[in-house]
Amino acid sequence: MDIARTLPELRDHLARFSRPAFVPTMGNLHDGHLALVRQAKALGDVTVASIFVNRLQFLPHEDFDSYPRTWDTDCEKLRSVGCDVLFAPDERVLYPEPQTFRISPDPVLADILEGHFRPGFFTGVCTVVMKLFMCVQPRFALFGKKDYQQLMVIRRMASQFALPVEVVASETHRAADGLALSSRNGYLSDAERDEAAQLSQALRGMAEAVRSGERDFAAIEARATRALAARGWQPDYLVLRRRSDLQPPTGDEPLVALAAAKLGSTRLIDNLEFDR
Ligand code: PAF
Repeated sequence: MDIARTLPELRDHLARFSRPAFVPTMGNLHDGHLALVRQAKALGDVTVASIFVNRLQFLPHEDFDSYPRTWDTDCEKLRSVGCDVLFAPDERVLYPEPQTFRISPDPVLADILEGHFRPGFFTGVCTVVMKLFMCVQPRFALFGKKDYQQLMVIRRMASQFALPVEVVASETHRAADGLALSSRNGYLSDAERDEAAQLSQALRGMAEAVRSGERDFAAIEARATRALAARGWQPDYLVLRRRSDLQPPTGDEPLVALAAAKLGSTRLIDNLEFDR
C-alpha cells in the first residue's frame, strides 16, 4: 500500500488510474470500514482510503483532541484488505490556511436530527468530503449506512454539484448482539458495552410496532425514548422518518427508524430501514 501525505504524492500514485474507488475515514478502523474497502475493490481500478480527523465537523465540546488515532493498526488493517493507496494528509496539507470557504448543505435535510444536535456538523462533513473528492477525484465513493443522514447529505451534495462521482452505500456492520460497529464504541466501559445493544433493540421495537399496524408514530417514538431513558440513557432522538428525505411520514412510504442517545459520556447513533 502506498501512503500519500501530500497532494503531489497522491496525484503521483493515482496518475495512471481513471476509476478510483474511495473510502474516506477518520481512522480508528473497524470491520465496517474494511467492508467498505472490500466493496471499493470490486468497483474501481484503484482503491484509495483516507484517514483525516476533520476538526471542522467537531463542536468545541466534542472529542476532537481525544478522538482515537490508531495509525499503525489502521495501516495494517488496510493492507490486510488490499487497499492500494492511503491518503493521510495532516491539517497543514488539507487546511493550509483557515478553511473560510465552506459547503453549506440544505438545512431542510441537514439541520434536523444530527444537524439539530450537532449544529455545523454537516457543513464540516460536506466541506471536507468535497475537498477530499477534489484531491482524490474518485469515480466511486463509499459511505456506511450507519451514518444514514450523512450518506443522504453527501449524496445530495454530489447530485446538486453534478460531481462526477457515484456515492455508494454500504450496509451497517453489527456485533453479534446487534450493536452497530463504530469507532466510538471503544469509549464504552464493559458494563456500557453490554448495555449498548439496547439502542438497536429499541429501533427494532419501533419497526415492529409499525409493522404490527400501529400508526401513532409519535406514541411509538415517545415510548421508545422513555424506555431507553429508564435504562439510564440520555436520548437525543428516536424517530420514524421517510427514507426518501428524513421528514415525518405522511403516507405509505418506506421508513427508517433513527436514534441517537448518550450512554455515560459516549454518544451512539444507529438506524434501521424497514418496510411496513
Ligand atoms: O464518517 C466519517 O468518518 C466522516 O464523517 C467522514 C465522512 C470521513 C468525513 O470526515
